[in-house]
Amino acid sequence: MSNYHIKHLEEYYQVYRKSVRNPEAFWEEIAEEHFVWRKRWNNVLSWDFKKPEVKWFDGAQLNITENCIDRHLPTRGDKTAILFEPNDPKEEAEHITYRQLHQRVCKMANVLLEKGIKKGDRVCIYLPMIPELAVSVLACARIGAIHSVVFAGFSSNALATRINDSDCKLVITSDGSYRGAKTIDLKGIVDKALEGCPGVETVLVAKRIHSNIDMMPQRDHWLQPLLDDAYGDNVAEIMNAEDPLFILYTSGSTGRPKGMVHTTAGYMVYTAYTFKNVFQYREEDVYWCTADIGWITGHSYIVYGPLANGATTVMFEGIPSYPDFGRFWEVVQKHKVTQFYTAPTAIRALAKENLDYVEKYDLSSLKVLGSVGEPINEEAWHWYNNNVGKKRSPIVDTWWQTETGGIMISPIPYVTPTTPTYATLPFIGIQPALMDENGQEIKGNQVDGRLCIKFPWPSMARTIWGDHERYRDTYFSAYKDMYFTGDGALRDAVGYYRITGRVDDVIIVSGHNLGTAPIEDSINEHPAVAESAIVGFPHDVKGNALYGYIILKETGESRDKNNLRKEINQQITEQIGPIAKLDKIQFVSGLPKTRSGKIMRRILRKIASGDTSNLGDTSTLLNPEIVQEIMDEAL
Ligand code: WTA
Repeated sequence: MSNYHIKHLEEYYQVYRKSVRNPEAFWEEIAEEHFVWRKRWNNVLSWDFKKPEVKWFDGAQLNITENCIDRHLPTRGDKTAILFEPNDPKEEAEHITYRQLHQRVCKMANVLLEKGIKKGDRVCIYLPMIPELAVSVLACARIGAIHSVVFAGFSSNALATRINDSDCKLVITSDGSYRGAKTIDLKGIVDKALEGCPGVETVLVAKRIHSNIDMMPQRDHWLQPLLDDAYGDNVAEIMNAEDPLFILYTSGSTGRPKGMVHTTAGYMVYTAYTFKNVFQYREEDVYWCTADIGWITGHSYIVYGPLANGATTVMFEGIPSYPDFGRFWEVVQKHKVTQFYTAPTAIRALAKENLDYVEKYDLSSLKVLGSVGEPINEEAWHWYNNNVGKKRSPIVDTWWQTETGGIMISPIPYVTPTTPTYATLPFIGIQPALMDENGQEIKGNQVDGRLCIKFPWPSMARTIWGDHERYRDTYFSAYKDMYFTGDGALRDAVGYYRITGRVDDVIIVSGHNLGTAPIEDSINEHPAVAESAIVGFPHDVKGNALYGYIILKETGESRDKNNLRKEINQQITEQIGPIAKLDKIQFVSGLPKTRSGKIMRRILRKIASGDTSNLGDTSTLLNPEIVQEIMDEAL
């Protein structure tokens, strides 16, 4: 019997030791016993962090959808696979069984094939959280097309950049989407994006809000009639272990978004195994992750991880505040949710509201609470623990990244004793290291440093689409033979990890990673702007909010400043999306710079957070006088 399900702490330590002493043997056993393969691997692992090149289960053949759907049909055909909870609580929830999911995925796969999509082609999915989103993802995987899901809150510009970066041939979207009491014109955004995407031949449109939209002849097709006509079975494409499964874009500190490429077998094995343990998943559970499938959390822990375990996974279309702030808890009660996985920003927003919203509902079904996306602060942790978990449900503070594919550092509930704000122990197979600024590993406990990973794990991203050099430079060049996460962390006396936050120019706002450079580029395109610098500052709901320091051109000086602020935010909304809007904009006459011309963000960060007690040495600046001026006018 393998170590697929860890049930107590000694077992964790024992399995962990096994997984790092002999990773190949360990993962081979997991892969062998818990998945279906068309052909066995020749080699469990080969790796070289210098190139970097990592291969897991090389030579194996499989289709991930056979693991997520087909193999469950004999035993779980009538079990709910996806439980769709619509935006409007008055609309009925939809229970999609494994058998129905199989048919829907096969039909969608056949539609894609009919539209000329082949193995290896890229398909962009720009959909709200409706069943078609999960079905499209799985249909791509079924035929070996590489899906690139773009979160349907991104602007047309951001969408176009992502479509072009990976040469998507086909886009799947909907007429529009619901967001609380509002609707969003998704098709309009797609149309605008496609003006700059000559490679897109076909657009498939799901009907959701029944709005009047333009359909471009030849290019655009309503999805439903095609699905109705499609054959309900499909022979899955046989994929190699290292064939790309999907591309998912994430922000870097500079330049264009990075299309992280995840491959098939290792990703499947690791997301399934982490799902089973981190949520202590059992057959009768109803699991709910509130993320959007547009982010990695949705890919790994709404779609692939849960379905690979034959679980019931809730897909929620709505928002936590609609029709009121009790919505999450109403859904937990209604579907008797057993595991609930959300982001600290949502917890903080709900913690500000009246407790009645929580207390009104019966939350006794809950067994495990999860948190992901940013450090969870102590106050939010306690609120979650006291009011949602009633101190009975352990909180798993899961640290991981788009790049890591699966959860890396996390308690295992009912196994690892938890401590507020600590992600606690490395997951099975994960070998973290803390590094100092000179590139040396900091051994021992009660230390802090930059968080790296020393050894490959099955679900790590293999490259950046079209730019392997950038992949190497970003993740494998800072520290020799290590994967660098971009995060800082500390390790306490018992070896627990606490993530302290990004050490680069990525700012996490409401759980979304935002690179400063693309936002600055967008601001600088405004005709009145000469230069800008963005920093994060603490915000009690979003975690961080954005503070922009902007130097105007002479032509901008005479303009009304509030109008300018609006225009600048409008420009950011159009080019990136509303999530990147600035909370505060301070117009300045200069930015503090080093003699080599680098903006001293450290100083700007301190001023933005209102903490100017210790600005450090500013005398080496090119323009030290500017610091006082900025401080005097700080918002
Ligand atoms: C941050 C989300 C502290 C971290 C799965 C990481 C966290 C970035 C945690 C990745 C956590 C994620 N505690 N920080 N539990 N989880 N982060 O790519 O800075 O959207 O590098 O993946 O979020 O964000 P991404």
